[in-house]
Amino acid sequence: MPVLTLLVARALNGAIGHANRLPWHLPEDLAHFRRTTMGKTIVMGRRTWESIGRILPGRQMVVVTQEITPLPAGVRRAASLAQAIADNANEDELFIVGGARVYASALPIAHRIVMTEVELTPPADVFFPKPDPTDWQELSRVPSTSVNGTRFSIITYERRQPPACADKT
Ligand SMILES: NC(=O)c1ccc[n+]([C@@H]2O[C@H](COP(=O)([O-])OP(=O)(O)OC[C@H]3O[C@@H](n4cnc5c(N)ncnc54)[C@H](OP(=O)(O)O)[C@@H]3O)[C@@H](O)[C@H]2O)c1
Repeated sequence: MPVLTLLVARALNGAIGHANRLPWHLPEDLAHFRRTTMGKTIVMGRRTWESIGRILPGRQMVVVTQEITPLPAGVRRAASLAQAIADNANEDELFIVGGARVYASALPIAHRIVMTEVELTPPADVFFPKPDPTDWQELSRVPSTSVNGTRFSIITYERRQPPACADKT
């Protein structure tokens, strides 16, 4: 079973997306995403795949969908999060990169959350919950300011108790 890491950028009001796009432009977070996932397997929902709209070089991409969505060669399909995990059982770590629906399935079984806390309160139509301190221990917090003036912190959380079983997803 690989370590499951949720990689998410969340605003102070919980916002993570609006009209199938990110609600902000934060080049430093995109660079952080690229650095963190390079050489790794990333798992995303079909709407996030459509939002990204291209193959991300250097990453093995898995799209969770129950539709026969056409996917380019090299992008893998999984019918559920549990299937995505089972198909990648030999990996050390899987990065779950959204969106809201995939995060909701993955949160009960994730081991780590790497969250960019964006100090904005934008309008949004998809949200991510604030990690409950009963379940999640903050390991590190690195504050920063974007070139465009937006303040953000990269926070790593680790689950306090072993996660639930992946079969339930
Ligand atoms: N801030 C961030 O870090 C971040 C990261 C990623 C995405 N986002 C944002 O999140 C939004 C997209 O999120 P979303 O919740 O609308 O969509 P999503 O989770 O990206 O995709 C939803 C689709 O994925 C499939 N799916 C997801 N979970 C599944 C499961 N457990 N089992 C089977 N199929 C599953 C289904 O596809 P089918 O309908 O094809 O079966 C479902 O309709 C966008 O606004 C995007 O910009 C934000």
